[in-house]
Amino acid sequence: DALQHWPLLIGYVLGSIPFGLILVKAMGKGDIRETGSGNIGATNAVRAAGKGIGAIVLALDVLKAVAAILIARAYFPEGADIFAAFGAFVGHLYPVWLKFKGGKGVATLFGILFALTWQLGAIALAVWLLAFLITRMSSAGGLLAAASAPIAAAVLGETQYIPLLLGITLLIWWKHRQNVARILSGSEPRFGAKKADEE
Ligand code: G3P
Repeated sequence: DALQHWPLLIGYVLGSIPFGLILVKAMGKGDIRETGSGNIGATNAVRAAGKGIGAIVLALDVLKAVAAILIARAYFPEGADIFAAFGAFVGHLYPVWLKFKGGKGVATLFGILFALTWQLGAIALAVWLLAFLITRMSSAGGLLAAASAPIAAAVLGETQYIPLLLGITLLIWWKHRQNVARILSGSEPRFGAKKADEE
């Protein structure tokens, strides 16, 4: 009904703001979609414009999901936050403004997790950091953090979030299918490994 449609729509509009594309372009670093992996997320913003811009893109992509959830909780009945979260996630992955070619959803997932229940975010962040420190691949961190999210929800007893998080995890893995192929073939770029790699 309308009480689900509005949070979905508000979430979608917020989620679909492509901060990586906008900020990299604003810094005069060109079209982020034409550098590195071609993704519009924070990882590729680091490649295109450096760590400072990457950090800002990360923060804004996290915060747009947080904002969607906080708006849903402030103005809509209980349970609307799940619809706002899903809207924001789909908006980030499939923004109508970019012909539905959006990001891979890891920052948006973190915004959703921290806003839903901060313990969920903390667990997934620990998984991301551990995976990243071991592999130096942002994608590996995101894939494992995503996989951990529905499990963490089950462990924490936050069962109402499990369907949402399972859907998000599947979409994150689907969006990372080229990363998965590169990881398996040993060609996924690593951060800070060698000079030839990323910084
Ligand atoms: O969040 C995206 C990250 O997991 C991978 O990004 O640019 O290395 O494909 P990228």
